Amino acid sequence: MTNPPAPQPPMFSLEGKTVVVTGGGRGIGRGISLAMAQAGANVVLTGRTEADLEAIAAQIRGLGRKAVPVVADITKSADIDRIVDAAIGGFGYIDGWVNNAGSARNGDVGPLFSLDERMWDAVVDLNLKWTFFAMQAAARTMTRGGSIVNISSRSGSQPCPNTGQYGAAKAGVENLTATAAVEWGHLGIRVNAIAPGVVPTEGRTTMASASRQRRQIETIPLRRLGRVEDIGPLAVYFVADESSWTSGTVVQVTGGSRIPVGLLTYLYKTNQAMEAKERDEAAGV
Ligand SMILES: NC(=O)c1ccc[n+]([C@@H]2O[C@H](COP(=O)([O-])OP(=O)(O)OC[C@H]3O[C@@H](n4cnc5c(N)ncnc54)[C@H](OP(=O)(O)O)[C@@H]3O)[C@@H](O)[C@H]2O)c1
Repeated sequence: MTNPPAPQPPMFSLEGKTVVVTGGGRGIGRGISLAMAQAGANVVLTGRTEADLEAIAAQIRGLGRKAVPVVADITKSADIDRIVDAAIGGFGYIDGWVNNAGSARNGDVGPLFSLDERMWDAVVDLNLKWTFFAMQAAARTMTRGGSIVNISSRSGSQPCPNTGQYGAAKAGVENLTATAAVEWGHLGIRVNAIAPGVVPTEGRTTMASASRQRRQIETIPLRRLGRVEDIGPLAVYFVADESSWTSGTVVQVTGGSRIPVGLLTYLYKTNQAMEAKERDEAAGV
C-alpha cells in the first residue's frame, strides 16, 4: 500500500513571517495589511491616525494573527526607529516591509508653472525621501535577508499634468527600487515595486467627481476602477518565498490601462483653450 502524499503548505504562505506596512490603517495600505494577515503573517502597521490602525489591528487579530499598531509619522527618523524597535521587540525579525505611506494632497499639487518649494517638498519628501529612509532602515535590520515592497504609481512612468512632482517622486521610487535590488541582492534582500492605477480610497473618492470616475473607467480595458483588495495579493507574493528569484521589478496593476485620464483631460482642455484663442484672434477680439 502506498502512503498518501504529505500535505503541502499552501502557496504564498507567510506563516511565521513578520511584515511592516506603512500607512497600513487606511486605503491601499489597509488592503495590504489584511492580505498579509490572511496569508499568515503577523503585521506591524503604522500611520499617524491611531483609530485607523486599531480598527485594522482588531480585524487582523480576528484572523488569528498578531498585530502591532505603531502611531508614527514616516517623515520623522525617530518615528522610523520606533517602528523598527516595535517590530524587532515584538517579533525578533522583519521579513517584509511595505512602503505604502504616500499621497499628493490637493493643496500640494498644481501645474508646473505654479509649483513652489513648499508644494515640492511636501510631496517629494513624503513619497521619495522618506520612502528611501524607510527602505534603508528596513534593509539594515534584514541580516538574514528579506523583502521590501515599494508602492509606486502608474504616475511614476507617465506624464502627470497637474501632479508633476508626485510623478517625479514615484519615478524616483522606481529607480531606487532598481538600485537597492542591485546593492542589496547579495545580502538576500529583494526589493520590488507595485505601480497601481486608479484605486478610489477614502482620500481619493472625495477628490474625483462621478463624471471623472466614469471617464477614468472608459480608459480601463477591464472596465472598472481598482479596489484596495487588488493590490495586497501582489504584495503578499513579493514577500513570499515563492518570489525568491524576483527582485528589482515594478509591476503595474492598472486594469490593463495605459492611458492616464489626467493626461487626456489636460490635452483636451488645452486644445479647447487654443481653439478659443484662435477664434478670438480671427474675430479680432
Ligand atoms: N489610490 C490610488 O489611486 C493610488 C494610485 C497609485 C498609487 N497610489 C499610492 O498608494 C499608496 C497609498 O495610497 P492611498 O490611495 O491608499 O492613500 P490614502 O488613502 O490617502 O492613505 C495614505 C496612507 O498613508 C499614511 N500616511 C500619509 N502620510 C503619512 C505620514 N507622514 N506618516 C505616516 N503615514 C502617513 C496615511 O495614514 P495617516 O494619515 O493616518 O498618517 C494612510 O494610511 C500611496 O503611496 C499612493 O501614492 C495610490
